[in-house]
Amino acid sequence: MLEAGIFDVGVILHLKSLVGKMARTSILMAMEDFYAVHRNYTTKLVLHIRDSNGDNMRAASQAVDLLQNYYVRAIIGPQKSSEATFVSDIGNNSQVPVISFTATNPTLSSADVPYFLRATLSDAAQVNSLAALIKAYGWKEVVPIYEDTDYGRGIIPYLVDALQEFGASMPYRSAISRSANSDQVEKELYKLMTMPTRVYIVHMSSAFSFGSTLFTKAKELGMMSGAYAWILTDGIANVVDSLSPSVLDAMDGALGVRFHVPKSKELDDFTKRWNARYRQDNLDDPPLQLSIFGLWGYDTIWALAQAAEKVSMDNATFQKQQDIKNSTCLGTLGISTMSIGHKLLDAILQRKFRGLSGDFDLRSRQLQSSIFQIINVVRREPKGIGFWTAKHGIIQNLNQNGSEHTYLNSGPNLTQVVWPGEVSTVPKGWQIPTNGKKLRVGVQTSGYPELMKVEMDPLTNAIIATGYAIDVFEEVLKRLPYAIPYEYVAFHNVKGVSHGSYDDFVYQVNLGLVILNADWYKYKIDAHKG
Ligand SMILES: *[C@@H]1O[C@H](CO)[C@@H](O)[C@H](O)[C@H]1NC(C)=O
Ligand SMILES: *[C@@H]1O[C@H](CO)[C@@H](O)[C@H](O)[C@H]1NC(C)=O
Repeated sequence: MLEAGIFDVGVILHLKSLVGKMARTSILMAMEDFYAVHRNYTTKLVLHIRDSNGDNMRAASQAVDLLQNYYVRAIIGPQKSSEATFVSDIGNNSQVPVISFTATNPTLSSADVPYFLRATLSDAAQVNSLAALIKAYGWKEVVPIYEDTDYGRGIIPYLVDALQEFGASMPYRSAISRSANSDQVEKELYKLMTMPTRVYIVHMSSAFSFGSTLFTKAKELGMMSGAYAWILTDGIANVVDSLSPSVLDAMDGALGVRFHVPKSKELDDFTKRWNARYRQDNLDDPPLQLSIFGLWGYDTIWALAQAAEKVSMDNATFQKQQDIKNSTCLGTLGISTMSIGHKLLDAILQRKFRGLSGDFDLRSRQLQSSIFQIINVVRREPKGIGFWTAKHGIIQNLNQNGSEHTYLNSGPNLTQVVWPGEVSTVPKGWQIPTNGKKLRVGVQTSGYPELMKVEMDPLTNAIIATGYAIDVFEEVLKRLPYAIPYEYVAFHNVKGVSHGSYDDFVYQVNLGLVILNADWYKYKIDAHKG
């Protein structure tokens, strides 16, 4: 009786990675919790957990092994988008549902592979929230810095489209190879510094350790300072609580978008139990913060266990199909659980419930975007500064129960952001790359000092220019959409004796000097007086 109810399920994760470890603990807890609540169920999932070690081929061969030798009726995982490309095809060909709660590359979902589901969002879901931020701050150009993998590249076309909608563009794309060393990361950052765009979207998964190297290097090179804006996609933002203090320190001032998990008593309770359990499962590891991936893993088990029970109840002849296969190679891998596979898929698709992660609804073969939280890394802590919803755009607060319908303080207001370098003014996002060169602005004391007066600071030898013409000039610079670093160059010697005639002064334009000509005002005033 018990034997007949066994429902074999393969699990393929990268067990040494942060997300893999987190998910393993969540999945095991979900099994215990589910069957503690459903003691009378006639089926029971039996998990066969495998470590892909982050390797596509290994994930694929494990999927084949699980199907052929363990007759699994569903596969949970794999973890990475590139692994999912293979495993989803293998599952689809055998008509065995493959449910990944971490693979977010938008191109994975397609009507051609109906047996691939994801209990996570497609990366296409978050691009609108990223674009909304870019738009809200008035930035016109953005450079994505992403890992050069299926995952990293997958988001780019969607981001291009979302930016184009309001006329922003992507003048350059910075793809960082998986095999890059920190010198190569540094070289790439130097390259970015020579370009005018100062707004970066960092799209890397937590398994890709260069997220950490990137920020540490960027900080070393002075790119985590006032002129720059950094935005994290949810690849890093979803797990930002688990990053080491030194990495968070380097990220200070970055913005990020991440999936918003509604607060609940169940979640609080689970988080406490999870923390204790994770420590127990990983005695040698530092504590880890539970992230959304752990919750999606948990909810996936509940969805699958529920669907398994439904299928077995609906199917009187349900039994372990031992007789089906004895082939050993992929080419002859048959449709082992054909009738079950189809019914199981339907049962999962139709099962909609409120899980720990929020609404769990796979009817469109993936979770739908609901709400993204906007975070700002401030003094090593991710601080929530607002939300983005498809309906309302950027807003400051959700109501108490996080429902979609009623909002407080509607309208973009993200003024409390602390930007890189602990600056409170919004970076302009664009700077004429100078490599140390500044725009040289020639100035000369006017006949009317209230129009322009040029002095030299006796201590620093810096030129101090004041007066109406200077005020106007500086105001104009402030209003430009990009920053121009400049310095004043006096067109007279220290004693205030001009180096030459007015014509000589103007001639300096040919020598690369921009001239502020206060004497135009003088002329007008003289004429008026006359
Ligand atoms: C996936 O499975 C479906 C149904 O069995 C089939 O129609 C489709 O061609 C398969 N897709 C691929 C890419 O093999
Ligand atoms: C294994 O496959 C072979 C060839 O398809 C078949 O003749 C044989 O009966 C199968 N064995 C079992 C145990 O099903």
